Amino acid sequence: MQDFIGLQGLGPDDLTGLLTLADTLSDIVTRPIKKVPTLRGKAIANLFFEASTRTRNSFELAGKYMSADVINFQASGSSVEKGETLYDTASNLTAMGIDAVVMRHKVAGSPGLLADLLEIPVINAGDGMHEHPTQGLLDLLTIQRHRGHVAGLKVAIVGDVLHSRVARSDIWGLTTMGAEVTIVGPPNLLVQGFPVDVTTDLETGIRGADVIQVLRLQRERQTGGEVPSLREYRERWGLTLARLDSWAPEALVMHPGPQNRGVEIDSDVLDGPRSMVLDQVQLGVAVRMAVLYRLLGGHDDI
Ligand code: NCD
Repeated sequence: MQDFIGLQGLGPDDLTGLLTLADTLSDIVTRPIKKVPTLRGKAIANLFFEASTRTRNSFELAGKYMSADVINFQASGSSVEKGETLYDTASNLTAMGIDAVVMRHKVAGSPGLLADLLEIPVINAGDGMHEHPTQGLLDLLTIQRHRGHVAGLKVAIVGDVLHSRVARSDIWGLTTMGAEVTIVGPPNLLVQGFPVDVTTDLETGIRGADVIQVLRLQRERQTGGEVPSLREYRERWGLTLARLDSWAPEALVMHPGPQNRGVEIDSDVLDGPRSMVLDQVQLGVAVRMAVLYRLLGGHDDI
């Protein structure tokens, strides 16, 4: 594997290999001394052209826990504001000795484009509405940890699927690993052409589910008129405790964050015992360590 752009096209063996590696590395995150020498002498640039909390920080920590040097590039305050192209920005960083680029960008396909132009590995940290492959992997790892396996599970992905790169990576990862996926949400926030069941009715979508992944209503990406109002959205598609208890009492609840509490998910679900959201975040560091390790040819005993 040279770059890591999407889960689409990866096979079960590729995914299982990365999940097993992440599982091995996950224990580093909870050790008192969080440092292994695996990537000592390697330099990683985080290129984030779009807002991020979890993804940027966990890539940074993943690199640092493995002793790599990590720099964080913010588009604002850089020469991007003077019109410098993405390629020029990245090739200048590689001239400084960077060994890998982690990139988030609002334009779908831009990490893939950069990967074609640069000799060093490029990792997609979320591109437009295309993919967010490390999130897809960490969601798989969270499910595997808590259910023991992914194959055969019923997974519902609820909400604004249309604008969600997380949903797309989840769909590819989950279906490749043999889960049965249903997407559920308002008709104009769903997608066609994926190997999933589709419904607009929340009860039909989540009844008996083993896992429910709730998505953020991405108001910044909507052009207007997609949902009638937040109150009506919550009334029809919000995950409340009463709905969870009556339709999918055994389900694990996940959300990639950031959450709109009281809109797509209620606080008593988010903060309750079935919520996996902080497990997702913790395993996200391990997954990013695994991807960096794989692409940068990690050495030494892990
Ligand atoms: C998501 C993203 O930016 O794609 N967040 C994340 O990385 N965990 C989802 C979102 O913005 O709603």
